[in-house]
Amino acid sequence: MMKTGLIGAMREEILLLKKDIQQLKTDKFGSREFYSGTLNGQELVMALSGWGKVAAASTATTLINHYQVDQLVFIGLAGSVQPQLNIGDIVVGNQLIQHDVDLTRLEGFPKVESPFWKTFEFNVFPDSGAKALSAVDNFVLNLKNGQYPAINASYSPTVHVGAIGTGDQFIASKEGKVRINERFPQILCTEMEGAAIAQVSADYQLPCTVIRIISDHADEEAHDSFSKFLFEDISQISVEIIKLLLS
Ligand code: ADE
Repeated sequence: MMKTGLIGAMREEILLLKKDIQQLKTDKFGSREFYSGTLNGQELVMALSGWGKVAAASTATTLINHYQVDQLVFIGLAGSVQPQLNIGDIVVGNQLIQHDVDLTRLEGFPKVESPFWKTFEFNVFPDSGAKALSAVDNFVLNLKNGQYPAINASYSPTVHVGAIGTGDQFIASKEGKVRINERFPQILCTEMEGAAIAQVSADYQLPCTVIRIISDHADEEAHDSFSKFLFEDISQISVEIIKLLLS
């Protein structure tokens, strides 16, 4: 049976799911609690990473080495860096890119090479991408059919599949967005953990899924828009998507 490691950066993004975990057991490693048990009959271990790539990588590594999870799943909010993405839209990652890694100054020095990973762009296994997309499509369908009374009735997201950018920065300016667009025109939205989890997954050759809900446009209004989405909307949305993903 497949065991899933589920990570979210903030309480609001995943912790509501805890009440649905059966045979719940809590362990602590370092500063983090790990909640394990079953959801829809499938084995699940859930943990809060906190913000950023180091926090995400540390959490992912514990899930793999201590719990032997077979796949990693991350769900949470992101800022859109493309005009066609609206607040509330859902992005299923098919590629995770560490947009803040810049080694261009080392180009042309072919003998200077990092072991393990020479690239900071990670592709999602097609099978994981397809499963995530189908869970998100089902979520949108159920939403249209009025199956989620706890979610605002006017919520009607568009689903996008594409590249997600990760960096240790909350992007909240036109310049910040332009910097990402210029180097990586394929990136749809930006966040702070996904590509770190993708790198750890790649190290262990495990599948990884990243699903992001757009909370802001990564511009000067990003902070207010992000806070509003975090406290009003995200909890129910992410819980329902994860339940469908693990069914
Ligand atoms: N998560 C949600 N919005 C974000 C933004 N604008 N930048 C980085 N991470 C985010």
